[in-house]
Amino acid sequence: MPADTLTITDNRTGKTYEIAIKDETIKAVDLRQIKTDAEDFGLMTYDPAYMNTASCKSRITFIDGDKGILNYRGYPIDQLADDGNYLETAYLLWHGELPNAAQLAEFTTSINANLSLPDSFDNFYNGWGRDAHPMSMLMAGYAGLASIYTDSKKVLDAESRKKQIFRGIAQSMTLGAYGYRFRKSLPFIKPDPSLSFAGNFLYMLFGKEADPRLVRAVDILFILHADHEQNCSTSTMRLVGSSQADPFSSLAAAAAALYGPLHGGANEAVLKMLRQIGSVDNIPGFIEKVKAGEGRLMGFGHRVYKNYDPRARIIKQAAEDVFEVTGKNPLLDVASELEKIALHDEYFIKRKLYPNVDFYSGLIYEALGFPAEMFTVLFAIPRASGWLSQWEEMICDEDQKIGRPRQIFLGEGKRDYVPLANRG
Ligand SMILES: CC(C)(COP(=O)(O)OP(=O)(O)OC[C@H]1O[C@@H](n2cnc3c(N)ncnc32)[C@H](O)[C@@H]1OP(=O)(O)O)[C@@H](O)C(=O)NCCC(=O)NCCS
Repeated sequence: MPADTLTITDNRTGKTYEIAIKDETIKAVDLRQIKTDAEDFGLMTYDPAYMNTASCKSRITFIDGDKGILNYRGYPIDQLADDGNYLETAYLLWHGELPNAAQLAEFTTSINANLSLPDSFDNFYNGWGRDAHPMSMLMAGYAGLASIYTDSKKVLDAESRKKQIFRGIAQSMTLGAYGYRFRKSLPFIKPDPSLSFAGNFLYMLFGKEADPRLVRAVDILFILHADHEQNCSTSTMRLVGSSQADPFSSLAAAAAALYGPLHGGANEAVLKMLRQIGSVDNIPGFIEKVKAGEGRLMGFGHRVYKNYDPRARIIKQAAEDVFEVTGKNPLLDVASELEKIALHDEYFIKRKLYPNVDFYSGLIYEALGFPAEMFTVLFAIPRASGWLSQWEEMICDEDQKIGRPRQIFLGEGKRDYVPLANRG
């Protein structure tokens, strides 16, 4: 039997080391024994952007980027999107198993019981301008909940965590809906517990019950966005949570990470790009500019998927279902043709650039009546269930301590302070 070890020879010293391999991984701290002398700190790995570093062990979401596979707790995303619903998915991410009917009913009741924001939140929106970005209001909203739900500081108490997770999943939706209503100077609408999670959201936004086909499309979008393993915002949730900050503060930080255009802001950028292209005739010229390095084809490419993002296929179908109700968004033709051309172009093939989840989602959101600023909020609402499930897993993981990367220091060595008068 070959050993599950890695043999490393340090050519600086001629010494050989045997490092254990477990789960196709070596422990970075095992490299610290590799030193030139006793004073030496030991070998580190350099991995900006965490291209090849596992920061945790997780049992929640599995992605095989080369094969285009995404599973939540073992269940393929397309099966969950075809037959499941968002709250069932949130339960699955958190608890590891699909709920039975009684468990789902109890879970739904608990979520519904937590949808209303605390009373002291009534004045929260007063300080904002009507043009405030809804993501700014969402981030601040999470931070505000941290100061109201002071019991959320008890992060090592399992019962308290449970309470906060219900609040976090439910009130993400309410904060999102209220941000929208505030910007439109419309009165807030209280949640209606008789509606589904997605149905309630559309009701709280638009003030009437939505067409069931649109409710279903939003539910599917929520399922697709619920988790995506250790991406930028989830890693932020875990990193901030590792200092034992309360989960609402961690949610504020995770939402901030999501806000960036390379992460949750990409679908807004896709729509801007499609509008800028304007018509199918302008696509070849646009593609040439991208290939010449003048900007990126937004909604294409992914750090992990080097194949078609499995969520993009499902969203494309959902887009067609939505357009049956709302009428077709003319930008869909530009998007479809752009996709077709890019998928046959050597530049994109060579770099394994395929459409990602954001390529079509913006078109659906626009057809549903959302302004572009709301798109990232629509991503954050369901992702709250993934963030909180990952946070719970991190807190319960005995391997985890406060997150603290190392650096390679390349600055000045020690030098003496020079008084201002003596500086040239
Ligand atoms: C998602 C993304 C940030 C991943 O980036 P990454 O893994 O760091 O990949 P890199 O930036 O190293 O890109 C690798 C190569 O592909 C090219 N590339 C990557 N995404 C590209 C895109 N969308 N359009 C054109 N070229 C792209 C890069 O220019 C680079 O080419 P080079 O090797 O000739 O320099 C990147 O693909 C991107 O910016 N996409 C557009 C934004 C987007 O849709 N984000 C949503 C993600 S869900």
